[in-house]
Amino acid sequence: QNIHIIGAATAFGQPRLGVDLGPDAIRYAGIVQKLKGLGMSVVDRGNIRGDFDIEAGQETDLRDDNLLNYGAVKRFNTALAAEVDGSVVNGGFPLILGGDHSLAIGSLAGLRKHYDNLGVIWYDAHGDLNDSRTSPTGNIHGMPLGISCGFGDQALVDLYQEGQKVRPENVVLIGMRDLDEGEKAYIKENGILTFTMMDIRMKGIKAVMQEAMEHLSDKCDGIHLSLDVDGLDPLETPGTGTPVAGGLSLSETQLAMQILNESGRITSMDLVEVNPLLDDKNMTAEKAVEIAACLFGKKQL
Ligand code: ARG
Ligand code: MN
Ligand code: MN
Ligand code: MN
Repeated sequence: QNIHIIGAATAFGQPRLGVDLGPDAIRYAGIVQKLKGLGMSVVDRGNIRGDFDIEAGQETDLRDDNLLNYGAVKRFNTALAAEVDGSVVNGGFPLILGGDHSLAIGSLAGLRKHYDNLGVIWYDAHGDLNDSRTSPTGNIHGMPLGISCGFGDQALVDLYQEGQKVRPENVVLIGMRDLDEGEKAYIKENGILTFTMMDIRMKGIKAVMQEAMEHLSDKCDGIHLSLDVDGLDPLETPGTGTPVAGGLSLSETQLAMQILNESGRITSMDLVEVNPLLDDKNMTAEKAVEIAACLFGKKQL
């Protein structure tokens, strides 16, 4: 498998400075060498930066309808979608390093060109299913999965290719522990398969991952893993902007990745929300590298 690393150096989807440095933090933690050491072929396609102005800080445009940095998010994701599309055209496995989670708007839009029934595993503390009306913050990183399902701002829904990119019945949420009221309603209305932290504590991560794959395997022509490092407990991954206590451990995540690797069905991945400015000695980026290694075949003792 030919892994294409795509650095998505965006911070537009949220207010904390530094998450745009996530892709380079993951590179410094050794992602290329680690994956090559597993026998993978790896090409680093560099960073997509967008038009972030460090002097203006994050105060770009607040649209009156509760979508922060709307224009920048739209432009960034259009560029990212083209890059991801091009990666798949060239036979790559797109590995998109973030950057805040709004980048999933672009990665899923680019993937839509190649899959009619893409499955999505959303490994995260959050559902990221808000729209501008349900969002408590206006931060677009809390909206990408909803937008990709066709719910929300029409220009973002139609980004790169018109219409919905993913069917809600092809989505599985894993690690949920901070859902806003509107997100809970959306999950219920659309019957999205959801594993909260309590479900994981009751069933165990192995059974949860097996159920997730059973739900997607037969009907999906590709499966995208969108992994937000805040899905893990903040004791494991402190370098992230919206930490929520009571999360998954590294070893559970290693096992989850091993099960996905053994399925042979994962076709692309986002690895997002690493913020080195909030981190402790780059440990969050190091965990991100370990997680990717397990997805690509590293086995635990
Ligand atoms: N639900 C909250 C919001 O919409 C938090 C979202 C956090 N998302 C993330 N990708 N870290 O603002
Ligand atoms: Mn999250
Ligand atoms: Mn919340
Ligand atoms: Mn997220």
